[in-house]
Amino acid sequence: RRRERGKGGLDSVSVSATMRPFLLLTLVSLSLSVSGDENSDRLNEYLSLRDRVKSKRVSSNDDCSILPPSLWCTSDTLAKKCGFYDQCQKFSKSTYNQPVLITLLYESLCPGCQKFITEELYPKVLKNFGAEFVKIELVPYGNAKISPEGEITCQHGEDECSINKFESCLIAALPDQNKHVPAIHCIEAQLKVKVDFNDAIQKCFETLQIGMDIQTMIQSCMVTRESARLQQAAAERTNNVYPDKHDHVPWVLFNNASLADAQFLIGDIPQLICSWWRGDKKIPYCEVEKVNARRFKIDRVCKNN
Ligand SMILES: *[C@@H]1O[C@H](CO)[C@@H](O)[C@H](O)[C@H]1NC(C)=O
Repeated sequence: RRRERGKGGLDSVSVSATMRPFLLLTLVSLSLSVSGDENSDRLNEYLSLRDRVKSKRVSSNDDCSILPPSLWCTSDTLAKKCGFYDQCQKFSKSTYNQPVLITLLYESLCPGCQKFITEELYPKVLKNFGAEFVKIELVPYGNAKISPEGEITCQHGEDECSINKFESCLIAALPDQNKHVPAIHCIEAQLKVKVDFNDAIQKCFETLQIGMDIQTMIQSCMVTRESARLQQAAAERTNNVYPDKHDHVPWVLFNNASLADAQFLIGDIPQLICSWWRGDKKIPYCEVEKVNARRFKIDRVCKNN
C-alpha cells in the first residue's frame, strides 16, 4: 500500500511531511495581504504596534495614562513623573496619624445590616484595628423617613424605630467605639437570630458588663426628648451625606465620602485601611504575613541580594 501511495506522487508525500508548515505560513500571509480590508487593517495595526514597541516610541505619558488610580500614590518616582505627586503629598499630610473614618448608615432590623455588623465590621474591622487606625461612626437610621414635624417612620415598622432610638442612646452613653461597637454588635447578633429585643439587651448588658449607671443613662435618654434629638441628628447625618445619597443600607462612607460606586468595597475595609494608613506606626494587622494569610499567601519569597 505504502508503495502505491509513494508511486502516486513522491512530491505530495514530501510536501505533507516537510513543506506543510511553510505552505501554511505562505497561505496565511497571502490571505492576510490579499483578503478583506478587515484583515489587512488588523495586520497593519499589529505591525505598527510592533514597530512602536520596537522603537520605544511608547512615551512616558503612555505609562502614566495606564497606571490604575489606586496605585497613583504608591511610588514617589512614578507620582513625580506622572504629575500626581502634589496631590499624594496633600493626602499624606492631612491624614498623617489620623484614623481612617468608616461611617456606617444602617437600620437595626435590616438583615444585610445585621450581617455586615456581625460578620465584617465587628470581627474584621473593630477587632483588627485599634481606634488610632480606624474611627467607626455608626448612624442608626437607614431608610427611615422624617416628616417636617420630626415624626419618623421606619422601614421595618415601629419596633425598628424604637430600636434605632435605643441604639442612638446607647452610642451617646458609651462614646468610646471600643465600648459601643461591641454592644451594637451583640444586640444585632441577637436580633439576627430572632431573640426578643428585651432579652437581647439584658443578655448584652450582662456579657459586656455594662453597669447600672450606663443602663440608667440609656433609659433616661429613651424617655426624654434626648432620644428624639439623637434620631433627628441621625436623620440629618444620613440625609446630608455627600456626594451620593444612599439608595440602600448597609451603606459605608470612606473618610466621609459617600460614593455609590465604592459600595462594592464594603467587604474589603481591612485592606483599604492598610493601604490608606499614613503614620509613624505600622499597623500590626497589615504586616505582610498577617494580611496575606487571608488571601493569597506571599511567603517563601526569593530575595534579590
Ligand atoms: C462629613 O461630611 C459632612 C457633609 O456631608 C459634613 O457636614 C461633616 O462635617 C463631615 N465630617 C467630617 C468628619 O469631615
